[in-house]
Amino acid sequence: MNYLRRIDWIMRSYNVAVVGATGAVGNEMISILEERNFPVKTLTLLASERSLGKELEFRGKKHPVKVLGEHSFEGVEIGLFSAGGSISQKFAPIAAAAGCVVIDNTSAFRYEPDIPLVIPEVNPEKIAEYRRRGIIANPNCSTIQMVVVLKPIHDVARIKRVVVSTYQSVSGTGKKAMEELAEQTRAIMNFQDPVAKVYPYQIAFNCLPHIDVFLENGYTKEEMKMVWETQKIMGDDSIAVTATTIRVPVFRAHSESVNIETEKKITAKEAKEVLSRAPGIVVVDNPGKREYPLAIHAVGKDETFVGRIREDTSIVNGLNLWIVSDNLRKGAALNAVQIAEILFRDYLK
Ligand code: A2P
Repeated sequence: MNYLRRIDWIMRSYNVAVVGATGAVGNEMISILEERNFPVKTLTLLASERSLGKELEFRGKKHPVKVLGEHSFEGVEIGLFSAGGSISQKFAPIAAAAGCVVIDNTSAFRYEPDIPLVIPEVNPEKIAEYRRRGIIANPNCSTIQMVVVLKPIHDVARIKRVVVSTYQSVSGTGKKAMEELAEQTRAIMNFQDPVAKVYPYQIAFNCLPHIDVFLENGYTKEEMKMVWETQKIMGDDSIAVTATTIRVPVFRAHSESVNIETEKKITAKEAKEVLSRAPGIVVVDNPGKREYPLAIHAVGKDETFVGRIREDTSIVNGLNLWIVSDNLRKGAALNAVQIAEILFRDYLK
């Protein structure tokens, strides 16, 4: 950080609240605020009554977890929400009415036309629209990592169609799902029956073609999120997207197989060059040395990793990509904190 910017940060700091602070994404939000030296004046940690009495550490100090209520946002300037859609539906407007800018990690507001849906590397200018309702939506984890990679290719070759299959980790469902994978794995290794509570079927040693609810068109909502959000963030409804989203027995980091068809020809070599220069992306693509993105390498990292970049031999202008990122970081908490950074740098005085 340069000297002048640092002085700016020292001069102005913000009252921040994390809603869903005890959850998988909430925990990550707290760590990222600390790691990135976000100018926090006060940090309010909010969760349900179940968490009353818990304390969480921020900058070496224990902070009590408070119960979320209608008066939780008095004096709060930035609210990072990740406690589920129904909590956001109810409390984000209450927070916004109290003068807090909400960055919402749920799907509660993503598809409303007057709510900006933002990936800082892709459409940071949309943050200005927070003024309409005081809410900025954070996209779905699978969409974020895909669109970060699609945007630089779209800019040079215009993407016509995307076919994506995801391999999503259980942390995207939350802490209980992570415990369920651990418990089922332990049970099976000890010749006991696995118990499924969070997912409809055993997730250990299995893949579930079912994330979120099924819709009338036969897709799941998670799959349609990738369609709706890609078009909204790219500002181009003509990009055709079809998705199959799969839950896999991985704790953390999502992987995606992405096939794209472009209007203009882009070779694999050109795509690698374009992606190497793009923000937030690391190209890991050296198959001869068995170098390609892996979920286990992406955990705890900020970047989105892309590899297996190759031309689709079945069509004229097509590319195949393998995209991996930490769903709790770039897919959720980091993207939200990056939005908050732009908010205070460019908009909040
Ligand atoms: P709590 O731990 O008190 O249940 P995850 O996505 O990892 O499951 O985390 C969900 C987060 O949302 C947790 O912090 C959880 O708090 C919080 N949460 C869930 N329901 C409520 C609620 N009714 N009011 C406030 N926070 C909630």
